[in-house]
Amino acid sequence: EYKRRKEMLRAHELAAKYYNHILMNTEHGKLGLRYLEERGISRITIEAFQLGYAPDAWDVLRKFLLKRGFAEELLFEAGLLSEAQNGKGRYFDKFRHRVMYPIHDAQGHVIGFGGRVLSKDSGPKYLNSPETPLFHKGRHLYNLHRARSTMRSEGRVLVLEGYMDVIAAYQAGVQNVVAVLGTALTNDHVRLLQRNVQEIVMMFDGDAAGQKAALRSAEVVKDADVKTRVATLPEGLDPDDFLKKYGKDAFVRAIQDNASSMTTFRILSMRKDYNLSTDVGREDYLKAVIQTVLTDVSSPMELEKQLKELSDEFGVSVDALDQEVRLAKKSAPAG
Ligand code: GTP
Ligand code: MN
Ligand code: MN
Ligand code: MN
Ligand code: MN
Repeated sequence: EYKRRKEMLRAHELAAKYYNHILMNTEHGKLGLRYLEERGISRITIEAFQLGYAPDAWDVLRKFLLKRGFAEELLFEAGLLSEAQNGKGRYFDKFRHRVMYPIHDAQGHVIGFGGRVLSKDSGPKYLNSPETPLFHKGRHLYNLHRARSTMRSEGRVLVLEGYMDVIAAYQAGVQNVVAVLGTALTNDHVRLLQRNVQEIVMMFDGDAAGQKAALRSAEVVKDADVKTRVATLPEGLDPDDFLKKYGKDAFVRAIQDNASSMTTFRILSMRKDYNLSTDVGREDYLKAVIQTVLTDVSSPMELEKQLKELSDEFGVSVDALDQEVRLAKKSAPAG
């Protein structure tokens, strides 16, 4: 078992080197290199992230690793090969015709890959490693091993959605960045981050999917013993787009000054579900906010601040709101 893991790690390490070699030194790789150049990624960044290219062929990696003595079945279990649907026991390269992003564990071992198509019309945009003995998307974060020392010195981590967002931020000089791997934040992620920072800032894409992921993540972190804030982006932009459009200073401001507390974020994002121009809608909204968000707020100071803001906006006394919170807590004791 342990030996098998070691072999899978070794196969990933070799695969990452091989994909990087193809990108940087071969005719095939030129397509990938041009793609990354067009997205503004420098050679230095390519090397720092060990980016690579999987050519448009069926068994380039397979042959490369078989020659080095790996068993096909192990490579399949490690997520590097796919199994042919008809011919059982026939395998081919899982990643083809894609720019490759190696995914590392916290110790810096390559444990999986994300692969991106070069053009829109050739299959799913990103193909990620499946769940394997090495890789679990709910337990790993992209770039954690590189970000960790800056996370520690700054006491803060920025959690983004995409590989390209992390790479763009890193290239702009913001190094305490990680990305979730196509999921919302999980409890395991939070534990991993908590060991290194006092504050988590989430910045998800300014689209419906990003908003949804942020809300699901908010549910996960609400009980965690770590300060969490959400930085929102203008409609339609992700962190990579935002950096390109507005530059690093605006990006840093969005993180440091303009990010709202998780509680504020949850309160604000409930607005769209209520018609706040009617009395009934306003009352229902307040009740819902109290039930689902304010009963979770454990800090009396934070609670008072939120109640004061709601009181100012909705013309209900802080006292009345506070009593509603107490009642709600009594009828549904916090778990
Ligand atoms: P770019 O177009 O390269 O800038 O991608 P992005 O990083 O902005 O990706 P997007 O916002 O579309 O998605 C965010 C993350 O979700 C990606 O980094 C992937 O991890 C994941 N993802 C996106 N598209 C797919 C897909 O088609 N399949 C899977 N499995 N994951 C995806
Ligand atoms: Mn691991
Ligand atoms: Mn998105
Ligand atoms: Mn995006
Ligand atoms: Mn993007």
